[in-house]
Amino acid sequence: MPLLPDRLIAGPVELLRWREKFVDDLLAATVASYAELHEWMPWASTIPTKAALREVVDAGYASFEADQEWQYLFREVETGEVVGGGGLHKRVGPDGLEIGYWVRSDRTGCGYATAGAGALTDAAFRSLPKLQFLEITMDKANHASAQIPRKLGFRLDREVSRDIVTPGHTGRGLVWMLNRSTWESSRLI
Ligand SMILES: CC(C)(COP(=O)(O)OP(=O)(O)OC[C@H]1O[C@@H](n2cnc3c(N)ncnc32)[C@H](O)[C@@H]1OP(=O)(O)O)[C@@H](O)C(=O)NCCC(=O)NCCS
Repeated sequence: MPLLPDRLIAGPVELLRWREKFVDDLLAATVASYAELHEWMPWASTIPTKAALREVVDAGYASFEADQEWQYLFREVETGEVVGGGGLHKRVGPDGLEIGYWVRSDRTGCGYATAGAGALTDAAFRSLPKLQFLEITMDKANHASAQIPRKLGFRLDREVSRDIVTPGHTGRGLVWMLNRSTWESSRLI
């Protein structure tokens, strides 16, 4: 059984593990948000076809099963619609994970990214006892994205040079961090 739960509760949204039955809804949300995703997300260099997205979702399902990475969609509780996604990725060394997220363009500004990333934060530290820290990275010009770690108690750790791989990228990234000890203290308040 995977280490992370299939479903996370996050207030106005719930996070559901990627499954093939969600491909149509994920595709619709991606197409509806394409301009914004294309600006910032390397995986959105082109609009995916249904077949290509199904392959990505199938691979994500297998990675979740193998505890390699954990990808979820965000489902709006009120309507049942797919309104974004987020996941935990092994890109930052053996003791850490990186959180990624996106929100459907007609639902931004509702707190969904903050709610989803917050649920991923709690689930990661609870479910993975060896996890020492989480990171969230965004381009320096992605001001909306930078609000999310700030609101969740992450601290800005460093500014880094990185490749320009989307139209919005400036070559400068911000890396925000949350340590287990800080997360544990925040649970006690
Ligand atoms: C970035 C993104 C995930 C934010 O999603 P969201 O659901 O709107 O985020 P939230 O509502 O939880 O919080 C957004 C915050 O940014 C603020 N914000 C929005 N646009 C902003 C801007 N241009 N400058 C500064 N702050 C901004 C909002 O006011 C809000 O803060 P507040 O709650 O203090 O008012 C969404 O816009 C998105 O998917 N963008 C495209 C993909 C992307 O950039 N993903 C992240 C890659 S690192």
